[in-house]
Amino acid sequence: VRPRVFVTRQLPGEALGRLSRLVDLSVWEEELPPSRDTLMAQAALCEGLVTLLTDRVDARLLDCAPNLRAVSNVAVGYDNIDVPACTGRRVAVGNTPGALTETSADFAFALILGLARRVAEADAFVRAGKWKTWSPTLLLGTDVYGATLGIVGPGAIGAAVARRARGFGMRILYVSREPKPALEAQTGARQVDKATLLAEADILTLHVPLTPATKHWVGRAELAAMKPGALLVNTARGGVIDQDALVEALREGRLGGAALDVTQPEPLPPDSPLMTLPNVLLAPHIASASHATRGRMASMAVDNLLAALEGRRPPHCVNPEVFE
Ligand code: GLV
Ligand code: GLV
Repeated sequence: VRPRVFVTRQLPGEALGRLSRLVDLSVWEEELPPSRDTLMAQAALCEGLVTLLTDRVDARLLDCAPNLRAVSNVAVGYDNIDVPACTGRRVAVGNTPGALTETSADFAFALILGLARRVAEADAFVRAGKWKTWSPTLLLGTDVYGATLGIVGPGAIGAAVARRARGFGMRILYVSREPKPALEAQTGARQVDKATLLAEADILTLHVPLTPATKHWVGRAELAAMKPGALLVNTARGGVIDQDALVEALREGRLGGAALDVTQPEPLPPDSPLMTLPNVLLAPHIASASHATRGRMASMAVDNLLAALEGRRPPHCVNPEVFE
């Protein structure tokens, strides 16, 4: 019999068509994610799940799913999945690194430029009919060219941002446990300690996964240590920033602005102060959202799932010890 698979949302591209020819497929067709109860009920029937970052996979769900062998996340991040709980039950977990590196770096740079040069504010200004004449003082921003960029997490996406920054003549600093000689050779980036990064970056950009170690990496103390007027850009996970402390720093004008593709929670409640602060640029978690990349991510997720269901190690598996 064909293995049963539940996919928690329609995905772009050809991947689900391919999957439907090989498994007994059920796809959640709604715009909003399946409820917790629906996901648990589906997991209970399935050998495989294809999940998004909005689907929580934890021990309680796994305990209802005795036949489950693979959870394939359509994302590079997998903080929505309790990986040790999966490993303990010999459930393989897949993700989609690589596919979205350049697309996500493009978007991080779009936020850098958009925040520094006030692109969204300018658009709203023109559309509102407020533009009366060319003015020497209208919508003045910050130069990106020649500024110092601080990278937190110089992994694949962070390094791709650094390559773009080099074309903008930026001075590039990064913090990391390990030095990154290839990145340094390619972009002139320099490894510094956290205090130096915070003190010297005109623009700080976050590219770490969300883990207990990176939760609130940018907290009250870090915001206080940042250069006055600096810009903060987050395309990683909302939880990497202490959002209450961020709102305070923005209100007090210590921080120049923040561009957030990710927040905690997602979406933000309508009464969140971030919704009304003028020096905040918001996006609905779309850094990887290009036609080509989202199709590739779906395809990779299907490849990971099919491999695991066949008892092979998926091409991108975050707990390969399941196959030892
Ligand atoms: C998106 O946030 C991802 O982790 O792929
Ligand atoms: C601006 O448009 C200029 O010509 O300086």
